[in-house]
Amino acid sequence: FNSNHSTEEKLQKVCQLLHDEVEHYNWVGFYFKNGDKDELKLSSYVGAETDHTIIPFGKGICGQVAVSNETFVVPDVSAQDNYLSCSIETKSEIVVPIFKNGENIGQIDIDSHVINPFTKKDEELLNYVCEKVSDII
Ligand code: SME
Repeated sequence: FNSNHSTEEKLQKVCQLLHDEVEHYNWVGFYFKNGDKDELKLSSYVGAETDHTIIPFGKGICGQVAVSNETFVVPDVSAQDNYLSCSIETKSEIVVPIFKNGENIGQIDIDSHVINPFTKKDEELLNYVCEKVSDII
């Protein structure tokens, strides 16, 4: 990462790169814990605008990852009860937590327009990205 860029610019570039380079990544964004509140706040993203700029812990896939501290792969969003829809085009989702000093501080959220596209390769890539992001925030 170029240190002349602000953190927000760097996160925006990461979103753009993942969105452009991986065909099944149709929405890519970062959510972070909003201060000391038990909620997530949308940070940089690429893709369709979303109503879900604030997500309470426990709500939706993102809110569940905020409390479980574990990657959540959703092969088919229509099979999920606790899911917040951003776009009717979204068919699947993966959310990977970001840890800083052992604390779950946020996550990367990726939506796809196809059913069941995510493999271990995606998890490996996104774990790597989350580790790098942790180092710059
Ligand atoms: N689908 C997410 C909400 C965020 S949007 O996908 C951008 C969820 O269920 O938490």
